[in-house]
Amino acid sequence: MAHMLFRTTPRILMGPGCVEQLGQEVKTLKGEKALIVTDPGITRAGLLDQVLPPLNKAGIATALFDQVEPDPRIEIVDQALSLLKAEKCDAVIGLGGGSSLDIAKLVAAMALNPGHISDYFGVDLLVRPGLPLICIPTTAGTGSEVTPIAILSDETEHLKKGVVSSHLFPGLALLDPVLTLGVPPAVTAFTGMDALIHAIEAYTSINASDLTDHLAVRAVELLYANLLKAYARGEDLEARSKMLEGSLLAGMAFANAGVTAVHAFAYPLGGEFHHISHGLANSVMLPHVLRFNMLGNLPKFADISAALGLASEELTDRQAAEEGLDVIEELMIDLNIPLRLRDLKVPEGAIPGLAQGVMKVTRLLANNPRKIFLEDAERIYRQAW
Ligand SMILES: [Fe+2]
Repeated sequence: MAHMLFRTTPRILMGPGCVEQLGQEVKTLKGEKALIVTDPGITRAGLLDQVLPPLNKAGIATALFDQVEPDPRIEIVDQALSLLKAEKCDAVIGLGGGSSLDIAKLVAAMALNPGHISDYFGVDLLVRPGLPLICIPTTAGTGSEVTPIAILSDETEHLKKGVVSSHLFPGLALLDPVLTLGVPPAVTAFTGMDALIHAIEAYTSINASDLTDHLAVRAVELLYANLLKAYARGEDLEARSKMLEGSLLAGMAFANAGVTAVHAFAYPLGGEFHHISHGLANSVMLPHVLRFNMLGNLPKFADISAALGLASEELTDRQAAEEGLDVIEELMIDLNIPLRLRDLKVPEGAIPGLAQGVMKVTRLLANNPRKIFLEDAERIYRQAW
C-alpha cells in the first residue's frame, strides 16, 4: 500500500454571517494591519462594506489592493507586494474568486521569502512561511482557500505557471455564504461546474485515497443538488451555503488527490483564448474527457453517477457511467453553458496546437486514470469542437 499524506488549511470558519468574526481572526493570527487583496468587481459589488466593519471594530488597520485581474499576470503580484510594503502591512486577506485568493497567497508568501516570485514556479520551492493569511472565497468555487497552489499567467511565454508549496495554505479559510448571494447566474454556473469537476477529478485521480474519496463524493452530492437552485435563485441562502461547502470539500479533496485531464485540457484553452474562463473551459471539455477516461476505472465513474442520483442495481458500471454523462450534459444545458468549442469561437485549426499544449501539462496528466497520447488529445478536442 502506498503511503497517504493529507494536508489542508488548519482553521476553517464557515456559516452565514461568520465574516463578523474577521477582525478577531486577524488578531488570533497576530496581525495588526491587513492588506485586502481583491478585484474591482468585488469592490463595485459592495462586498467591502461587509468586510471592513468587523476589521475596524477589532482595531485592525487596512490597506486595499483591488487590481486583481482574471488569469492574473506575474506583475500583479509585484504591484500588490509593493503596496503591502509601502503600507507596512503584517497580514493579508484574500477576498474574491480564485484569482484574488491566489494573488493573496503569493503576496503573503513573497513578503517573507527572498528573491522574485518567478524564482518559485514549481513544487516546494518557497523557503519559509509567509505573513498571516486569511482567504475569503466569494464564489463556490475554486477551492483555492484550501489548496497549496497559486496559478499565474506568463504573458511572454503564453503559459499558465503554478507555485505549489505547503507555505501557500492560508492560516484561515473563512466561508460566509452571505458574501456569495449576489454572484450573477453565469458566474454561479461556471464556478459551480469548476467545483463539481474538482470533485469528479479528485475521485477518479489515481492518487485518490479513502479520505479524499469521502470528501469528493459528498462534494458531488452537495454541488449537484444545489447548483441549479443557486443558479435559478441566487438569494437562496441554503443553496449558497451548500455550494460553498461542496466547493470547500472538493478543494480539500483535489488539493491532495490532484485534478486530472479535464483541467489539463482546459489550460491550453484558457492560455490561448483569454475570453474563455477557467470554469467554462473545464465545462466544455468535461463530457468528452469523461467519455475517454471512464474506461480507466468504470467502478469509480459509476460511483460518480450514484452521487448524481443515478443509483440502480440493474445498471452495469459501464451503463451507470454513461448515464452520468447524460446527467452532466443536461445540467450544462440547463445552466446555459456552451457544449462545443466552436460555440466559444475556437477555430478548428487551433486543435493540433492545443493537443500539443495538453501533453505539456504533465503535472495533471500524471494523475489521470487513463494514459493520454497525443493522438488521443487531438481526438478529444475534435469531439469537443
Ligand atoms: Fe478548477
